[in-house]
Amino acid sequence: MIRVGLLGCGTVGGGVVQLLRANAAYLEARVGASIEVARVVVRDVEKERVPELDRGTLTTDASVLLEDPSIDVVVEVMGGVDPARRLLLRAIEAGKQVVTANKMLLALHGGDLLETAKKRGVDLAFEGAVGGGIPVIRVLRDALASDSVASLSGIVNGTSNYILTRMQADGLSFEFALKEAQAKGYAEADPGLDVDGGDAAHKLAVLAMVAFGARLDGAQIPTEGIRGIEPVDHAFADRFGYVVKHLAVAKEKGAGLGRGGPLELRVHPALVAKDAVLANIHGVLNAIAIEGRALGPCLLSGRGAGDLPTAVSVVADIVDVAIAKKSGVAGQSTRAVRLAPRVLASMDDVESRYYFRFSVFDRPGVLARITGALGERGVSIEQMVQQGRGSGEVPVDVVMLTHESKESSVQAALRVIGASDFVARPPRMIRIH
Ligand code: NAP
Ligand code: HSE
Repeated sequence: MIRVGLLGCGTVGGGVVQLLRANAAYLEARVGASIEVARVVVRDVEKERVPELDRGTLTTDASVLLEDPSIDVVVEVMGGVDPARRLLLRAIEAGKQVVTANKMLLALHGGDLLETAKKRGVDLAFEGAVGGGIPVIRVLRDALASDSVASLSGIVNGTSNYILTRMQADGLSFEFALKEAQAKGYAEADPGLDVDGGDAAHKLAVLAMVAFGARLDGAQIPTEGIRGIEPVDHAFADRFGYVVKHLAVAKEKGAGLGRGGPLELRVHPALVAKDAVLANIHGVLNAIAIEGRALGPCLLSGRGAGDLPTAVSVVADIVDVAIAKKSGVAGQSTRAVRLAPRVLASMDDVESRYYFRFSVFDRPGVLARITGALGERGVSIEQMVQQGRGSGEVPVDVVMLTHESKESSVQAALRVIGASDFVARPPRMIRIH
């Protein structure tokens, strides 16, 4: 028998228990041993839980689980950095196989955890940390072992994609759509991590570990969330043939089939052409578009959050680490992730097309001043529209799309325009993907 200890049993942990129960016979045949949830650490043992758990397995004391030599696999689905980090390190030091879905922990301390797991010869599996039920970690780590990734871009936060979809398609307010996402179990305990982009940045850091072997501080990834996107931006995007999506983008310059050039990582809303695949990923769905140097394009899509989709990934990890332990090859998948420190390219050097929305007072010469500020810095306008007519102190929206431009030039121009007396509000800028 494989004895599993769960650290946490909320949305994801509950899904794990359900799947282990529903597929017990198949999993037993597959692993060659039955899988039993032997201990569950929670904050409140009195809480009503669905699915129900044997009262005797529940405890608030993680030591009961970590010091039990009969526990083979420790699954961390409690979230946050500490105590999750300390508990996982203790589990690794105790020689247990470990599984986590905690992208924040991995983004901030994944390098240390992986190094410790490698030294101890155990597996640290984390498929559930990115893309919910999408097997993207396996694809990057195993299926593309002979290739190198030139770039990837993805919708990796289900909550943000759900909110953007509901705002775009159904005209819901941001607040209402967020409440729905929370009720469905998609959002983080702190939903600011979803809507301000932190969760997507954590996932991008995890993807960068497996795709580029990048050991980096996830907190350094330039990150913007979706709070500033207004219904009018969805309407203008639609008018120009785009939809607004929240993207995580990674690019590595390299020659031929080789790897190792400067690494660009960023998380921000983006205008995506309506006929592009990522534009048609709706609701809680996530998608990661990978460009392999040898493979070319590869797209993975599926449900990116929620109890059962995430549990599919976590249980797949439990099965893998259980089989590895039984077969005497524990630690092999962890050794496949080879990390080295990487310096991130500066956001100033990013080249992109841009969408600007200027809320301006409708006076003669305003357009000339805007285009002048952009033109002086080499930012060339591709399309422009002024919607309606402002009057007196009531501003009007002027929207521009640019040709490929350098981020540092765009930011410099926007600073000048934003400080001018003809703008009613700071300009809105969205990169075009
Ligand atoms: P959740 O519903 O809030 O559940 C957290 C569980 O951990 C609860 O059972 C809670 O106990 C327990 N817990 C939290 N802090 C604890 C502590 N200090 N000591 C003991 N127990 C503690 O969270 P979740 O949505 O399942 O997310 C869990 C992890 O999976 C997070 O890292 C999250 O980012 C990640 N994840 C979530 C999803 C998703 O769709 N929700 C998808 C992918 C990854 P009580 O039940 O007693 O409160
Ligand atoms: N809060 C996360 C999301 C959960 O909405 O994508 C899945 O990681």
